[in-house]
Amino acid sequence: MRTEDIISALSEIIHPAKDKDIVSLGMVEDVRIDGDMIRFNLVFPSPDAMASELKKEISGVLSEKFPGYKIRPVEIVKKSEAKKSIGLNLDEAQLAQVDNIIAIASGKGGVGKSTVAVNLAVALAKMGYKVGLADADVYGPSVPKMTGTENEVPDVEVAEDGGTDLIVPVEKFGVKWMSIGYFAPAGQALIWRGPMACNALKQMILQVKWGKLDYLLIDLPPGTGDIHISLVHDMPLTGAVVVSTPQAVALADVEKGVDMFRNKDINKPILGLVENMSWFTPAELPENRYYIFGKDGCKAMAEKFGLPLLAQIPIVQGIRESGDEGVPSALEDGPVSDAFASLAKAVAERSASL
Ligand SMILES: Nc1ncnc2c1ncn2[C@@H]1O[C@H](COP(=O)(O)OP(=O)(O)OP(=O)(O)O)[C@@H](O)[C@H]1O
Ligand SMILES: [Mg+2]
Repeated sequence: MRTEDIISALSEIIHPAKDKDIVSLGMVEDVRIDGDMIRFNLVFPSPDAMASELKKEISGVLSEKFPGYKIRPVEIVKKSEAKKSIGLNLDEAQLAQVDNIIAIASGKGGVGKSTVAVNLAVALAKMGYKVGLADADVYGPSVPKMTGTENEVPDVEVAEDGGTDLIVPVEKFGVKWMSIGYFAPAGQALIWRGPMACNALKQMILQVKWGKLDYLLIDLPPGTGDIHISLVHDMPLTGAVVVSTPQAVALADVEKGVDMFRNKDINKPILGLVENMSWFTPAELPENRYYIFGKDGCKAMAEKFGLPLLAQIPIVQGIRESGDEGVPSALEDGPVSDAFASLAKAVAERSASL
């Protein structure tokens, strides 16, 4: 008998609450055969009401398949570990009042994550939701500029009795904004070493007086590096939105973005993909669509990954200009604002269905 046989037997056991087998759920680790004992770690990402029922089923199935062997699963609950690794003196009550935390990610840089995040925040606020946005790009924060808040200096509420001081977010356009950019002189590059960047980032999210929010959006920096992994691992995310352009080089990186969330150690839901810069329509020829970066690339990707395509956002000069001027396009009426409104609706529906 080989460990593969044991894994294959275990992969027939379905977790009753998750409707998936325990091997694909990443719950089986370190399978080994020790004399007449079958040992493995049974990993629960959080305390699980089904644990004892599952263990009974596993013992039953394995004893039947491998008579003569003793079955010894070791139960491991990983939740407390994940919580500890945040490593800050947190006021977790701040996040406890947030209903949905949604990360805006991409594989490749410059595809429009921050533009989508800022406009999605404004569009959700226009629908009547309470919304906050944390700019997680601690190296190149763009939210202050895109919202015309770069001269704001957030207040800090000093805690009594040795509690955690809280930063008060900047409010504009009906949204609460937070960014490391508010604490750095304009135009100055922010240079952090890894662990410092990570802590600064977590502070921008966790040490903020968000109050009650329906949605907290997190605008991630480009890529899928250590900071991202640490952040998406530790945060109680509702899900992620992955942004791409329809261009082949960007699409190739979508897979990395999707993998980051579907990786078994992270395992957070993806709400769907957003195709940005889908087509260009010149103001003087409103019926014409030019597919500069290719047509429907994200649609094909979404199908490949079994994910919804939440929206297609055209390339519009006004989106770029309003980003530079600090007045998000989603504020004004028109086709661009409609595209962000339909994205907001899709995000609200998807996060409610998870
Ligand atoms: N649909 C669009 N139409 C026109 N310009 C756009 C559109 N989306 C984004 N842009 C412009 O493209 C540039 C890059 O966008 P943005 O900063 O949002 O990308 P990003 O993915 O957040 O970048 P980074 O990876 O550096 O964080 C900006 O100048 C923005 O104004
Ligand atoms: Mg950005």
